[in-house]
Amino acid sequence: MSNAEHHEGTRRDFLYYATAGAGAVATGAAVWPLVNQMNPSADVLALSSIRVDVSGVAEGSQITVKWLGKPVFIRRRTPDEIADARSVDVSDLVDPIARNANIDGAAEATDENRAMDEAGEWLVQMGVCTHLGCVPLGNAGDYALDGGVGGWFCPCHGSHYDTSGRIRKGPAPENLPVPPAEFVDETTILLG
Ligand code: FES
Repeated sequence: MSNAEHHEGTRRDFLYYATAGAGAVATGAAVWPLVNQMNPSADVLALSSIRVDVSGVAEGSQITVKWLGKPVFIRRRTPDEIADARSVDVSDLVDPIARNANIDGAAEATDENRAMDEAGEWLVQMGVCTHLGCVPLGNAGDYALDGGVGGWFCPCHGSHYDTSGRIRKGPAPENLPVPPAEFVDETTILLG
């Protein structure tokens, strides 16, 4: 996919989230600041690509970075989280589409189609609930194996995302989108 296509996709997502965010504000829910995102300023556009040093991210934890005004979760998953994510049958998913900007838009939502690397250690996704734009909480969803807690939970209206960021329960309609992202060296991810 060309850069131009990436940017076009980003603008579409951008409008969607900005609109969704306004709805969430009206309900009094806590949302990521979305003011002025309909018309990003020149300095924001200049940051359409950012490099993120992930050398300090421990297994089983995540960092949240701001990209184009929106939160992005970068998670280094444990073997259990990866196993959870890979044990799911796509036919059981609410949203069967991978939602990964780095691959074919129609690709199915296997964990392999969402994780950054083949082993599945790294998962990069937008930290914006696909319902009305709240920021989901990490390690808090109902969809880990053995009845454990894992993945993400959106406290605004109760959406649960599994350890691959796929919507499993609650009002959110789609999986958390995976933005354009790639490793440019062993410890640096380029977003955008
Ligand atoms: S914003 Fe409604 S469930 Fe997340």
